Amino acid sequence: MACAPPDPPATELDVSIAEIVRAQRLVVAHRGRKIELRPDADGIRATVLLCTHQGCAIQWDGDGYACVCHGGYFTAAGEPVRGPPKRPLRRLAVRTEAGRAYVHVGP
Ligand code: FES
Repeated sequence: MACAPPDPPATELDVSIAEIVRAQRLVVAHRGRKIELRPDADGIRATVLLCTHQGCAIQWDGDGYACVCHGGYFTAAGEPVRGPPKRPLRRLAVRTEAGRAYVHVGP
């Protein structure tokens, strides 16, 4: 028998593509975490704004993403370049249809 509570079910965020394009960097809150949506060459990119070191919130600073907890830093593409993080920022799958972006938010 597992001690941890079960993972919450996967959900889908539904956001207007026009709204994402207008904002360029649209941040939405979902279940206590922030997800950034932005247009890129492949369509819409969805990035979880949590550091991959120990899960602190990260901030866009105009060039990349900074984590104030232990000085981690990620490029605009989400690759770790400074501090303790070793893994890139988590990306979420996005499908687009009829002017909407559907972001798969796993547990
Ligand atoms: S939690 Fe971000 S650098 Fe440690």
